Amino acid sequence: MINIAVLGCGHWGGNYLRLGSAAEGVRLVACADASQERVAAVRRMYPEVEASTSASDILARDDIQAVVIATPTETHYLLARQALESGKDVLCEKPLTASVGEAAELVRISQDRNRILMTGHIFLFNPGIRKVRDCITAGECGKPCYLHSVRTNLGPFRRDVNVVWDLAPHDISIFSYLLGAQPFRVWAKGESFLQPGIEDVAFITLAYPDKVLGHMHVSWLEPRKVRQITVIGDKKMVGWDDLDPVGPVRVYDKSVGRDRFYDNFGEFCLLAREGDITIPRVTLGEPLKAEFAHFLDCVTTRKAPVTDGANGLQVVKVLAAIQRSMQQDGLPQEVDA
Ligand SMILES: NC(=O)c1ccc[n+]([C@@H]2O[C@H](COP(=O)([O-])OP(=O)(O)OC[C@H]3O[C@@H](n4cnc5c(N)ncnc54)[C@H](O)[C@@H]3O)[C@@H](O)[C@H]2O)c1
Repeated sequence: MINIAVLGCGHWGGNYLRLGSAAEGVRLVACADASQERVAAVRRMYPEVEASTSASDILARDDIQAVVIATPTETHYLLARQALESGKDVLCEKPLTASVGEAAELVRISQDRNRILMTGHIFLFNPGIRKVRDCITAGECGKPCYLHSVRTNLGPFRRDVNVVWDLAPHDISIFSYLLGAQPFRVWAKGESFLQPGIEDVAFITLAYPDKVLGHMHVSWLEPRKVRQITVIGDKKMVGWDDLDPVGPVRVYDKSVGRDRFYDNFGEFCLLAREGDITIPRVTLGEPLKAEFAHFLDCVTTRKAPVTDGANGLQVVKVLAAIQRSMQQDGLPQEVDA
């Protein structure tokens, strides 16, 4: 039985309280939230869980083996460091930290102390995204040419981070997972229309090895909630729509060929080939439940999580490069190797 604690019992932390109090092989013994109001609400819902306003008190306890951190981004580094240094395994929400240096430091501490450090890149546990990856790795799409994503809604607005640090970690982690590669250069334009100095919309372009391009549109200032990704391969194209009630994945048997009957290069025609659109069966399940189960499995077996600290650090490096590009009016920025 693993004793765990949840730090941060707000909107997202509430999901971990629900999962932690119901999962097998785990006992949710404590939680902390800086807000007295949240602590009181948790005490009413989970009277058997010790709720406190002090995360430090909980991290000092020897009977807790693992903690989940679901507090605002700026607090992740100190809480995770304290947890790792007190010998606990850590599942930290995305983005892992607010800077590259902090994330690298957490990775180092977790390695030195032989602790599990996992980042909550939830979409790697999303059955639809896994199906898209299967299509790519099985060669069904051919060579990926480019990927693009749209992740927009009207809010929810944050004050601690801008829309890039809030939403783009999802698409950065998904693109790297789908391609099995990291971007080496980014260009980004962002703007703040709602809160001075906090970008609420951004358009991001990313360059990956092998001439693969990525593009992301993230926004808190849009009329529609959209969660979509399109992968353009040279054999087929795949669309993912997390909100599609029929099924999240569509495989488009569409590509462009060259007319075989031409005399010289200047005469060839590009031929659009339009085949069937299929909706592969995707067995849906709660991604956060799968992510949490993976963390517990890693705590038990001591294997490295799919979304380990190094994975979280890589995403923070891309976020930092995007931030630099936005600050320099879209100039290209190399991602730290
Ligand atoms: N994976 C996802 O899809 C997803 C979705 C939403 C949020 N998140 C992540 O979860 C984290 C929390 O987001 P949220 O939407 O729940 O925010 P929130 O503001 O609703 O909740 C954060 C809670 O942390 C508490 N808190 C702040 N500092 C604290 C500290 N030092 N110790 C203990 N508690 C503290 C606050 O009082 C608040 O109740 C963020 O990192 C966010 O990026 C992830």
